[in-house]
Amino acid sequence: MIDNRRTLETLLAQGGHYIDSETGAIVPPIHTATTYARDERYELIGYGYSRSGNPTCAQVESVLTELEGAEDALVFGSGLAGITTFFDTVRTGERVVAPRVMYHGAADWLHRLAERRGIMVEFFDAAAPDGLREVVGARDTAVVWIEPSVNPTWDVIDVRAAAEIARASGAVLGVDATATPAVTLRALELGADVVFHSGTKYLAGHSDVTAGVLATRVADERWEDVKLARTLMGGVLGAFESWLLLRGMRTLHVRYERQAANAMAIARHFEGHPKLDAVLYPGLESHPGHAVAKRQMTNGFGAMLSLLVTGDAEAAKRVATRTRLFVPATSLGGVESLIEHRATVEGPNSVVPENLLRVSVGIENAHELIADLEQALE
Ligand SMILES: Cc1ncc(COP(=O)(O)O)c(C=O)c1O
Repeated sequence: MIDNRRTLETLLAQGGHYIDSETGAIVPPIHTATTYARDERYELIGYGYSRSGNPTCAQVESVLTELEGAEDALVFGSGLAGITTFFDTVRTGERVVAPRVMYHGAADWLHRLAERRGIMVEFFDAAAPDGLREVVGARDTAVVWIEPSVNPTWDVIDVRAAAEIARASGAVLGVDATATPAVTLRALELGADVVFHSGTKYLAGHSDVTAGVLATRVADERWEDVKLARTLMGGVLGAFESWLLLRGMRTLHVRYERQAANAMAIARHFEGHPKLDAVLYPGLESHPGHAVAKRQMTNGFGAMLSLLVTGDAEAAKRVATRTRLFVPATSLGGVESLIEHRATVEGPNSVVPENLLRVSVGIENAHELIADLEQALE
């Protein structure tokens, strides 16, 4: 239930203020049952079958609904399961518009699999001020899909402006807010119809659970379609993972604030560094998207940044292999700092600059992180 008086910090820290009515336990149990009994009238007592939903999923979904200011939320077995289930509501012949540079798994689905389904996909340049408006044009569009800070160049997209463009073309605006969680960017309040998160990242926060989240502004017909598709395509999140996600979310607020502060310290330190061509971070005043980021991110500029190393792919990879604290691994949003050569991870069809290192900043000591990158750049 949505209680407007409860701040996000309190909602998250208390896991939705759960108190078990029978035992008084302040942590919910993990319901591992896959099937549920009927009563003497052959009516369901509570749930039916775990693929359609189960009490542990429902617990985390109710906190996510309130966190996002949504009417409803659903959890999935991975972020991509959430994205592809959402896109399953797009009909053959309909059009989707998305950024050219974006999370490569979703882009790959749009490039490789949407075509099989007869979905038209067009891409826009997130760095161009009118990129989205020009591609959407005056044509009917089913879905505009954006990331407020696109992964991994961190160009900023104005969510409010995108919502207006989407509405004018009859489209639904879907926002992948994985890198900009609701503690800093309120996607639905800014005009998104549906907000998505890879729960694997900041929401869970410890690099130990794979999960996806969709939350909707209104529980309309399309949302009923998404729910049906989750059941029929089987993408539901397991009970243990649901519980871990809820447990992780209790500390989202403090983790995120520390991570964003560390990222800002690193970005400021390395801006203008002689071994770097650029530091890409929307928190820097020099970033072309800074003013929009400042307007739509109310609590720090996130904890993701990229470094353009002076030189080629090999020079960038050398830096990524020389760090001692930053772990050379993909993913983001965990409490530990990671560094990756993004073009290698994305593979041959990557559109990311070859000298780009993507950095996910954790909660460690900022001075140690800076010293580690300094010695790796030497
Ligand atoms: C921005 C973004 N969206 C979606 C995903 C996909 O999530 P998952 O890996 O949980 O399937 C990722 C994963 O890296 C991501 O970074």
